[in-house]
Amino acid sequence: MLNIKASIAKTVLDSIKTMSADVELSVEEIANWLEYPPDVNMGDLAFPCFRLSKTLRRSPVQIASALAEMLSACECVASAENVNGYLNMKLDSAYLTAHVLGEIAEKGEKYGAPSFGEGKTVVLDYSSPNVAKPFHIGHLGTTVIGHSLKKLHEFAGYKCVGINYLGDWGTQFGKLIVAYRKWGNREMVEQGGVDALVELYVKVNNAISGNEAEGIAPDTALADEARAEFHKLELGDEENLALWKWFIEISLKEYEKTYKQLNITFDSYKGESFYTDKMPAQVQKLRDMGLMQISDGASIVDLEAYGMPPCLILKRDGSTLYPTRDIAAAVYRKNEYHFDKAIYVTAAAQSLHFAQWFKVVELMGYDWHDQLVHVPYGMVSLNGAKLATRTGNVVLLRDLFQAAIDKVRQIMEEKNPNLENKDEAAEAVGVGAIVFYYLSNNRIKDINFNMEDALSYDGNTGPYVQYTYARTCSIARRAAEAGVTVDGASLTAATEVQEIELLKTLSRFGECVVGAIRDYEPSEVTRYILDVATAFNRFYHDCSILSAENEEQKKLRLALTAATKTVLGNAFELICLRKIEQI
Ligand code: ARG
Repeated sequence: MLNIKASIAKTVLDSIKTMSADVELSVEEIANWLEYPPDVNMGDLAFPCFRLSKTLRRSPVQIASALAEMLSACECVASAENVNGYLNMKLDSAYLTAHVLGEIAEKGEKYGAPSFGEGKTVVLDYSSPNVAKPFHIGHLGTTVIGHSLKKLHEFAGYKCVGINYLGDWGTQFGKLIVAYRKWGNREMVEQGGVDALVELYVKVNNAISGNEAEGIAPDTALADEARAEFHKLELGDEENLALWKWFIEISLKEYEKTYKQLNITFDSYKGESFYTDKMPAQVQKLRDMGLMQISDGASIVDLEAYGMPPCLILKRDGSTLYPTRDIAAAVYRKNEYHFDKAIYVTAAAQSLHFAQWFKVVELMGYDWHDQLVHVPYGMVSLNGAKLATRTGNVVLLRDLFQAAIDKVRQIMEEKNPNLENKDEAAEAVGVGAIVFYYLSNNRIKDINFNMEDALSYDGNTGPYVQYTYARTCSIARRAAEAGVTVDGASLTAATEVQEIELLKTLSRFGECVVGAIRDYEPSEVTRYILDVATAFNRFYHDCSILSAENEEQKKLRLALTAATKTVLGNAFELICLRKIEQI
């Protein structure tokens, strides 16, 4: 609707100018004021005239009435009227049909894509699991929101760099090395993969922290040993370095399986370890600028003036901390990629951390501090689904996906036993169901995961929208078999309310994309997909397509179906949902 809004806005502005020549308003501003009325009987678009009342020195009713008269000249408007100071408009159906279906057919995969990102670069830091710790359901948010934001920005023309900032450095590696030497061996890790590593990690952690209830004292000697091994690793001890590299390799192999199921790839895997030698320069800069203070032996940047606790830069023993690394990484990325925006997607629990180090970057005089964006999301818990947990209290992402895939596979065996590529389809639908369910909510809201709900074929779910997409494909196939071809130029105007509602829904895609990028909110795309699926299914249910009354109508309806396929497909791409032609 963006183009239609723009041309209406232009006529509205011209009309306003005839009432008062010195009005300072742009076409964009007017276009932004255009609303979708809550009830279709009120019209397709509405323009509230209240804000103009003062400038034009007329009542909103007078303005709306005057505009209504002048708008009859606009080719896209069928009728316009004043309703209590709102200018309510009905769009011309022939115009709407030709314009919307023409644009979708012409632009195809690019339909709905804004262009404001062209020539600009965005760096996105997401997923970023901590190696050797479980890759669990809590990482679903950063992984799919992050990737969806990448897709959205790419769609808008940005050059995007997706970074998996692996947690590949820190004392946990000292612990793991100790545990491996004590309880593990090469064969066990080679066979068990990341599970063996997690098991070792859990075991050593339990031993170090002890268990009061069971009367097991904390093993401080083991803790010291772990620290010493990590220190050796920092100093470049060859044996420890080799183990460390191997542990990372094994973990990455496992993560990549999950990323592949989601169709996610990264442009960089530079993890925390990469920034070790980049930190001293930033620490020195902080010191030189007099920003650093010693507190209790540790080096901090005081942020009291900004209502935040101090940002910790160095521990008492001089070792660096999480914020120190993030500051060094940001400086490196700015120099390397010259980003216009750097996006970090993490759990909301890390919001203070980001607010603190963003402020430190500002105090350091980096003028790009305002290009740093933290995108937080809420907590995920699991309700009702009985999933095996290997590590006692967390649900691994891999297991969650597998449970969904198994369940879908079972449903497919019942519903469509002759389906080709059942494994592939089950993976696409199972993983898609989880992703769609997750992205259906505003990201900041906490989510209670319910597998039954996510997998339902007739709720507002992934399977439902994938099914709708497959339906558009099957109609197109049947039309092709029947030899019907659709020539976009000569379509008859939509007349049925279901056709018009579908057209209007399809026309809103561009605005949905702009909103999702503006709000860093993939759920706006998810909700839009549901709107399209609902409008299409209503149309499909009420209007015969292949057996329409006449050839003209059949062609129009096939064109509507093809346009729905394009729009759903484009939108699926943006939220990591796979397009499958048959379910
Ligand atoms: N590895 C961290 C974690 O799992 C997330 C890293 C987020 N990115 C960042 N630049 N701090 O909590």
